[in-house]
Amino acid sequence: MSDLLRGKLVVGNWKMNGGGAANAVLLAGVVAGWQARADREVVVCVPFPYLAQARDALAATPIAWGAQDVSGHAAGAHTGQVSAGMLAEFGCRYVLVGHSERRQECGETDAVVAAKAVAARREGLIPVVCVGETLAERDAGQWQAVVTRQVDAVVQRLGADSARAVLAYEPVWAIGTGRTATPQQAQEVHAHLRALLCSAGGPEVPMLYGGSVKAANAGALFAQADVDGALVGGASLDAAEFLAIAGA
Ligand code: PGA
Repeated sequence: MSDLLRGKLVVGNWKMNGGGAANAVLLAGVVAGWQARADREVVVCVPFPYLAQARDALAATPIAWGAQDVSGHAAGAHTGQVSAGMLAEFGCRYVLVGHSERRQECGETDAVVAAKAVAARREGLIPVVCVGETLAERDAGQWQAVVTRQVDAVVQRLGADSARAVLAYEPVWAIGTGRTATPQQAQEVHAHLRALLCSAGGPEVPMLYGGSVKAANAGALFAQADVDGALVGGASLDAAEFLAIAGA
């Protein structure tokens, strides 16, 4: 069993937000307010230019940091991309891969996402693999097919190393919309993914829920048997709100 499965993992995703001065306030607030707990792992995933700032602010604390994307290539002529080795040099422990905003805005396919997860593992990073259906797909009764396809693509490439990955179920219709999946909806999908990995002889990996997670709904989500934590967007930009989720 992954050591991450013993408690809850709470990952903040700042997305394309921040600035030197605002980050300093946010990071200081998170550091000042967080008491290390054996049953919690807290992570912030920041934009690339702020990795050094996150490392300097968090290195002596129990809070880990990571990036929001990584190249599937190891090095070379890939202008604008950032390799897993570079992220490792900045002390990143985690990296998001396949976030729906990248799948939609940057055309990332399942194969690209899988290559990124493999590249991350090669450098010892833990990929947080994001999957989730759109509203149209949910309304058409296709969520199972969509998330199964997205997870299969990554697990087939990672093989046994899937044990060192994290899955994040983020229904696209719940991201930044204020419309959270109900705890029952989240549990239904998580249980499906757990069973899928299990039937494939795969490992038990931590499964985060993401999509409008707030302090007010985190407790009910965390109470679900197969919800091992949260991937938090908007609410991770407010230290008090993020800490309340992390402690829920
Ligand atoms: P949200 O974003 O919490 O703002 O809905 C979650 C995410 O996209 O990771």
